[in-house]
Amino acid sequence: SATTRFRHDGTATVGNVSLMEIVHRFGTPLYVIDETDVRLRARAYRAALPSAEIAYAAKAFLCRAMASWLSSEGLSLDVCSAGELAVARSVGFPASKIIFHGNAKTPHELHLAVEQRVGRIVVDSVDEIHRLAALVPAGYRQKVLIRVIPDIEAGESAAVRTGGENQKFGLSVATGGAGDAVSRVLRQPRLQLVGLHCHLGSQITSVEPFERAARAMIEHLAGVWKTHGVALPQLDLGGGHGIAYRPGDSRLNLDAFAARVTDAVEERAAGLGLPVPRLTIEPGRAIAGTAGVTLYRVISVKKGLGHTYVAVDGGMSDNPRPALYGSRYEVKLIGRASHEGDREVTVVGHHCEAGDVIAEDVPLPADLHPGDVLAVAATGAYHHSMASTYNLTCRPPVVAVGQSKARLVVRRESLEDLTRRDVGL
Ligand code: LLP
Repeated sequence: SATTRFRHDGTATVGNVSLMEIVHRFGTPLYVIDETDVRLRARAYRAALPSAEIAYAAKAFLCRAMASWLSSEGLSLDVCSAGELAVARSVGFPASKIIFHGNAKTPHELHLAVEQRVGRIVVDSVDEIHRLAALVPAGYRQKVLIRVIPDIEAGESAAVRTGGENQKFGLSVATGGAGDAVSRVLRQPRLQLVGLHCHLGSQITSVEPFERAARAMIEHLAGVWKTHGVALPQLDLGGGHGIAYRPGDSRLNLDAFAARVTDAVEERAAGLGLPVPRLTIEPGRAIAGTAGVTLYRVISVKKGLGHTYVAVDGGMSDNPRPALYGSRYEVKLIGRASHEGDREVTVVGHHCEAGDVIAEDVPLPADLHPGDVLAVAATGAYHHSMASTYNLTCRPPVVAVGQSKARLVVRRESLEDLTRRDVGL
């Protein structure tokens, strides 16, 4: 399902455009994003869940071009910072289709969200409720969702599991925090409670935890109905849909997700006599992930005692995921054929620490040499968005491919950019 086509002669393309041509025009390191693939995935979600709201999670990857593709595909947008909101709004992404998230939204972010009339704000603490209500002008009601802890553990690594009790997100049903938040929001005349939200975690490849979450959340909605007499119209089940990073990896099956989650919601609601709420889901990785590829140039090949190290011109500043989560990738030589057999090498970056690894023990041709170009697939989500300037490295550009053409959508960071904010002695 990946967007990049690799051939044995070393040619590699995204959407009919040669990756080597992109390297020659824009240099390395560099991120490529396939507009067609993003749009097809957005459409696949809309087709699989025609009556649901699909809110793309901007944290996975956002730039102005991306925001406008999603907007034209009719998606909603989950943002979690003033920055994501600003990028989306700068291309006219409709505020009413924006959902603002965050466990610690600053007063400034809440102010911007209300001022710009974002469609919904997801309340994540009791502290936030009166702070938010105080910002809403007379004559306006801000729609809110309350983030509830579903008490379901799922997700690739501990760092991205957000559905259990012992982590910072959401309000606990067990402690009474969620119920308290519901009562408080309902008492605020300038807030309008429209539903409940939960998010289990990320890179989840099985439907089962989502089904359990759907049932648990319907029970919480029924609880609100019983206690307060209000049937909330929306149920936001968050994102977390897993993708295949390498051939043979498992991923979440969208059709199975759609069928089983919709059934679970309808059955449980019918069982409790509750009107069926409209579903919102917030996929990020599943829309952007396989649409991206990162291109590097080999700088050196060093034979160590145990491993051969292939060092490239990028690293943990453009992809911190192996260091953070132990993530694994497929790496391919592109731009030339090799008749040598493969050998296991460790692809490392140019940063000043030993944990700066892109892929450990991956097969690459034995004649790999400086100047070769390597492609790392499935880097469309949580790569550009997590990039840093560690070691004062310039962040790579983003090149979009669409309609058989490549174009720059985010330019490479320059040394001038890096020094611009440093106001001096
Ligand atoms: N909704 C909420 C409230 C979220 O917190 C997230 C992700 C999503 C939706 C989208 O999740 P997705 O569908 O993309 O899995 N940096 C990590 C992933 C962190 C995800 C945080 N929240 C990584 O690189 O794997």
